[in-house]
Amino acid sequence: MVEVAYHYFPKIEVSSPIVDQQVLYDLAKEYGTPFFLIDEYILRSKLRELKDGFKDFFNTVKIAFSMKANFNPSVIKTFISENTLFDVTSLGELFFYLKCGGSTENVIYTSVTETKEEFYEVLENGVRLIVISSFNGLLNLIDVASEKGVIPSVMIRVNPEVGVKAEVRACYRHGKFGVPLNGSTVDSASNLLRKIINSKNLTFEGFHFHLGSQIENPVCFVNALEKLEAFIIKMRKEFPDLHVKTIDIGGGTPVSYGSPVPSPSEIGSIITKRLNLMVQNLGDKFTLIVESGRFLSAEACILVSKIINLKVYEGHKFIFVDAGYHLLLDAALLRQEYPQEVIPYVENNDNLKINLAGRLCDTYDIFPLSPASKLSGAELGKLIVFRNVGAYSIVFNMPFHCQTKPPIIMRKMNGEFVLVRKGETIEELFEEEGGNLDP
Ligand SMILES: Cc1ncc(COP(=O)(O)O)c(C=O)c1O
Repeated sequence: MVEVAYHYFPKIEVSSPIVDQQVLYDLAKEYGTPFFLIDEYILRSKLRELKDGFKDFFNTVKIAFSMKANFNPSVIKTFISENTLFDVTSLGELFFYLKCGGSTENVIYTSVTETKEEFYEVLENGVRLIVISSFNGLLNLIDVASEKGVIPSVMIRVNPEVGVKAEVRACYRHGKFGVPLNGSTVDSASNLLRKIINSKNLTFEGFHFHLGSQIENPVCFVNALEKLEAFIIKMRKEFPDLHVKTIDIGGGTPVSYGSPVPSPSEIGSIITKRLNLMVQNLGDKFTLIVESGRFLSAEACILVSKIINLKVYEGHKFIFVDAGYHLLLDAALLRQEYPQEVIPYVENNDNLKINLAGRLCDTYDIFPLSPASKLSGAELGKLIVFRNVGAYSIVFNMPFHCQTKPPIIMRKMNGEFVLVRKGETIEELFEEEGGNLDP
C-alpha cells in the first residue's frame, strides 16, 4: 500500500482526483494497469454540493444515491456513512446495499419489473417505500403487502412527457418508464392513484419522475412540476383529501466532461423556485427527494491506463492504451467524451491529429476526445488518465476478448490508498465462464 500525505484538491476545469504523478506510477507498478482510482473525499463533497443546491427549498430535502451508477461496495459504504437515501432498482442492488450495512429505512425501491417475487423479497427485507410504474406492478404489490400484513408507502412514477435537453432522455411520449399524467387508461396516473387510495394495504406517499441523465437545461423540471401540480389539483376534485407527502424529481444533475454545464446551485435554484410555489399552491409541506448517480460518483473516479502501442502516418498519431470500451462502455455507446490526459503531459506542436484507441479488436474502440483532453507528448510506457469515469462505467465492465476486471483503489479521507476491489485473474474468468465444469 502506498501512503501519501492527504492534500486538498485545487480547483481545475475538470474536477477529479488530483494525484501526484509519482504516486500514479507507483500504484501502476504495484497493481498493474489499467486500474480505477476512487476518491472518497470527492464522493462526500459532491453530496454536500448537490444538497446545497436545494438549500432554499421551504421543506426537507433528501438526496438519494442511485446505485445503478456505481455499486462498488466502497462507494456504497461511503454514502451509507453519510446516512443518505438510496435509489435501489433490483434485488441484486438491494443485496449489495444490505451487505454493506445499509438500513432499509433509507431505501426507495424503483424497479422496472415489479414482480410478486421481487416485492416479496423487498418487503421481507423491511423496505417500505416503493415507486410503482405500472398497474400490474401495483396489483402485485397489493397482493404481497396483504399476504405479509404490512402497509408500504407508495409513490407513483409518472411520465410528464416534457422535452428534455440531455444526453439520455427518460420521459418521452410512449416511453417505457412510468405512467402518463394524461388519460385514464389502466396504466395512467389517475387510475393508479385511485387504486392506491382505495387500497387498505398501501399508504399514498407522493409522486416520482425521472427525466433523464446529464440534463443541460433545468427548465424541463419546471415544466414537469407544472404538469404534476395541475394533475394533483385536478385529482382533488375526486379526492378532496389528496395530500402529497413526498415529491421525488429523479436524477439528471450533469457533470462537466470538458464543456460547461450548469452547477447544482444554478439548477437547484430554478427548480426550488417552482417547488416552493407548488408548496404554496397545494398547501402541502412535502419532502423533496433528489436522486443522483452521475453527479455524485462520476468526478470521484479516474481510470489509469498505459500506452502500449503507437503508430504515426499521414498526419495522424494513434495512441493505443491497455483500456478499451469494455471498461468505459459509454465511450462507445453514447460517444461519451471522458477527458484524457497523458501523464506526464508535455506540450508539443507536432500538428499530428491524435486518435486514442483502446486495446479491443473493434472499430468502435476509439475514444472520443473531450475539449479538456491533453494528449500531446504521448510515448510508449507513459500513463493516460481518463477523468470523471465514476458513473456508469465500473457497473458495465465486461470480459470482451477475455479481458479481466481491473482492480479498484480508493484514496481514503486520510490520504491512504487502499485496494477496494482486487483485479480478476484470467483463471477466475475461465472458472466463471464454466471452464472448469465437466460438459
Ligand atoms: C429512476 C432513476 N433515478 C435516478 C437516476 C440517476 O440518474 P443520474 O445518474 O443522471 O443522476 C436514474 C438513472 O437512470 C434513474 O433511472
